[in-house]
Amino acid sequence: MQSFDIITLFLLLVLPAYVANAIPVILGGGKTFDGLIRGKAFGSNKTIRGFFSGIIFGTLAAFAIAMALPAYMVMPYVIFGFLSSLGTMAGDLLGSFIKRRLGIEEGRPFFLDQVLFIIVALGFGYPVLGGYYTAGLMIAILVLTYIFHVLFNVIANRLGIKKVPW
Ligand code: CTP
Ligand code: MG
Repeated sequence: MQSFDIITLFLLLVLPAYVANAIPVILGGGKTFDGLIRGKAFGSNKTIRGFFSGIIFGTLAAFAIAMALPAYMVMPYVIFGFLSSLGTMAGDLLGSFIKRRLGIEEGRPFFLDQVLFIIVALGFGYPVLGGYYTAGLMIAILVLTYIFHVLFNVIANRLGIKKVPW
């Protein structure tokens, strides 16, 4: 197993998920999953295009990052990127599903908004890069992801990219 310094490892584990999580805000729109099932499962903000654009761009980000890795890690890392992007979008849907069941309206804040996606993303990526998951690193990822998420959403809101600052 290749060894990386802690910051590199941190970035390798989170970047595809961060990209997947951010992209639907920009590229989302169109038909919702709820429209597909003709019921209220995830709410009016979870679109099919948002879901797939997150997976595609998260995987592309992993592909770009993989170019800087040793050749034998390119394929595993791209697969990790795909799985963690898929996990991000699945976690995002799960979060909305939980919010709707609790009666929390679309776009209203909820404590899982900032971290559920990264937890599910890391879970999905575990079969590939789980060997790198140490307890300390997992705690650092949770804490810093929370902070970054809050910061990025405030900035995206100020820039007019996002309707609400969370
Ligand atoms: N988005 C999308 N498709 C997805 C996920 C997100 O189009 N599968 C877009 C929507 O425009 C959404 C925005 O990204 O409004 C922000 O996503 P998020 O904060 O995850 O959703 P909320 O609007 O807060 O809705 P919820 O309360 O269900 O979390
Ligand atoms: Mg939200």
